[in-house]
Amino acid sequence: MTVQKIALTGIKSSGSPHIGNYLGAIKPALELTKDHEARYFIADYHAITTVKDKKLLEEQIYDMAATWLAAGLNPDEVIFYRQSDIPEVFELSWILACMTPKGLLNRAHSYKDSIEKNKEKGKDLDDGVHCGLYYYPVLMAADILAFNTNVVPVGQDQKQHLEITRDIAHAFNQVYGEILTVPEALIDDSVKTVPGIDGRKMSKSYNNVIPLYGPQKDLQKSISRIVTDSKGVNEPKDPDSCNLFALYTYFAAPEAVSAKREQYKSGGMGYGDMKNELFELIDAFVAEGRDKYASLMANREQIDWILEEGAEKARQIAGPLLQKVRHAIGIQ
Ligand code: TRP
Repeated sequence: MTVQKIALTGIKSSGSPHIGNYLGAIKPALELTKDHEARYFIADYHAITTVKDKKLLEEQIYDMAATWLAAGLNPDEVIFYRQSDIPEVFELSWILACMTPKGLLNRAHSYKDSIEKNKEKGKDLDDGVHCGLYYYPVLMAADILAFNTNVVPVGQDQKQHLEITRDIAHAFNQVYGEILTVPEALIDDSVKTVPGIDGRKMSKSYNNVIPLYGPQKDLQKSISRIVTDSKGVNEPKDPDSCNLFALYTYFAAPEAVSAKREQYKSGGMGYGDMKNELFELIDAFVAEGRDKYASLMANREQIDWILEEGAEKARQIAGPLLQKVRHAIGIQ
């Protein structure tokens, strides 16, 4: 029997996932579960560094969980849990904090950005900066190191956090022996530029997203608003600079994509028709997930139950690891 590598990733709850999240994060992470032992969790205690609204946080946690389950995460194959249900992670995070050079955290991007913004505005450097933001990378290291993780599928924006995690693991191992597995980031660049409806990278902060499992009419509305040039029906068009075409390539079969490319070049097809076609394509693709999502959101106990089962399995891994760490540092 070949031993599979362990893949782990944290899902930060922040607003309803969109098509860009699906293509860039959810789909590749689910693909990885085919030949990895996967441990995926909702990073709810990371979310409180920014979300300070009880109702919103609760909603976002269910939203994330339902989305991943609807997208095909199979809880019998993937250990799927809430970070907050694993006390071992938080105990480990303190131990790791005591191995983390302060300078390492001073250089972490999100903390540094906050400080720099204050500087630009002439404010006190620490204004509005809480210790949770500063400590964020340590908690993330604990998330990862508590589970003997080999690979961490993440976006480019998390690369530095993974480097910090590796540094912390090395620092610990140097003092106490080879106890922690040093993980690697797995960054899939191939889909990083899923365009939003205005052509910029699809992102909530640009307000240009196409919803994943939202109501059908929202999907239709956002697709109808995708920006194109103003070429008429009969004019030849450039597929490679067209947002509609770019999105089409993610959902259509390769033969359909080549045929569409020719159609663009020869003219005779208007953007209105292309929008309809893209809508039909994405709508058919998300239909099953959308139903599953709606049914899970209407049965939240079912989500709780799945996540609790996952937490039990997760603690069976994190518990012995923490025991080993405690023992190594001299705490029984
Ligand atoms: N920081 C990650 C993000 O913002 C979420 C996260 C928390 C995470 N803990 C993790 C990702 C552990 C990978 C591994 O997306």
